[in-house]
Amino acid sequence: DGSPLVKYNDFWSPLQFLRRLLYTQRYFEAKDDDVILASVPKSGTTWLKALSFSIVNRTVYTIDQNPLLTCNPHALVPFLEHLQHEGNPGFISTPRIIATHIPFNNVPDSIRESKCRIIYICRNPLDQFISGRHFYQENNHVFRENKVEKDFELCEAFDLFCQGIYPYGPFWDHMLGYWNAHLKNPEKVLFLKYEDLKGDIALYIKKIAEFLGCPFSVEEEKQGLVEEIAKLCSFENLKNLEVNKSGYLSNGVKSSSFFRKGEVRDWGNYLSPAMAQRFQKVMYSKLEGSEVLWITSHSAILS
Ligand code: A3P
Repeated sequence: DGSPLVKYNDFWSPLQFLRRLLYTQRYFEAKDDDVILASVPKSGTTWLKALSFSIVNRTVYTIDQNPLLTCNPHALVPFLEHLQHEGNPGFISTPRIIATHIPFNNVPDSIRESKCRIIYICRNPLDQFISGRHFYQENNHVFRENKVEKDFELCEAFDLFCQGIYPYGPFWDHMLGYWNAHLKNPEKVLFLKYEDLKGDIALYIKKIAEFLGCPFSVEEEKQGLVEEIAKLCSFENLKNLEVNKSGYLSNGVKSSSFFRKGEVRDWGNYLSPAMAQRFQKVMYSKLEGSEVLWITSHSAILS
């Protein structure tokens, strides 16, 4: 988006977040029952926030009273990086649900050391990249003050992306950090893919509930609660809610900018086959030997 990035502890942090990151690393105390949602920006964070909130609080709110109907998911589930700046907003959810874009090896120690659970969502990085470009353009009014000179042209931005120079990047290290943590302790870290959720959301709603220790009862399933949560949190439903159609979040970002297309492989409308090939090579060179490479094959990048 043109805002300065600084390399800190092996990742590229947006300059304006560095102070918050350092503060968080020093002062944040995770509780054993916290639920941490982790992702690279534009990988499905908003969707995961809506789903986790609805799953965890399903006995507190009926579907037609769910706060998602009147609040943007980002107003319900705060980012770790924002907590101290916004005076620790009251958590509407018990247990607490907190999101973060910070890579695994840089999250506060208490997140790694406590029993809190982490749900990671990743997405085909090319779709995430294209989604990010639209998001930054839509919210130019927020990012403008951090601009170095001007927006990067697509090719230039893509070149930087392939070098890993992107907010919270390199994305391959971001994925690998959480993937390896999942391999080491699958009960602590659940690793999800946006594309899989698009394929069978009911299955993943149940998986998330099981992982969080609150599986759906037979009775709840019979009542169709899984499907109701899927519908409530669907792209079409959230996008068309009045609260998400207009207005701004407290940081000035447009509520509507979190709901653009919600599709898989939209990158094909913007990037050339040559660009995709270059990207594929990068993925192979960085992720060879790790199962995380299936993210590209799964998404059939070159087909
Ligand atoms: P697109 O720009 O490709 O449409 P994040 O939430 O991490 O910022 O990611 C935003 C991306 O997720 C956007 O992708 C957005 O449209 C998509 N998205 C938001 N809510 C969604 C939902 N309920 N279901 C599926 N995709 C969703």
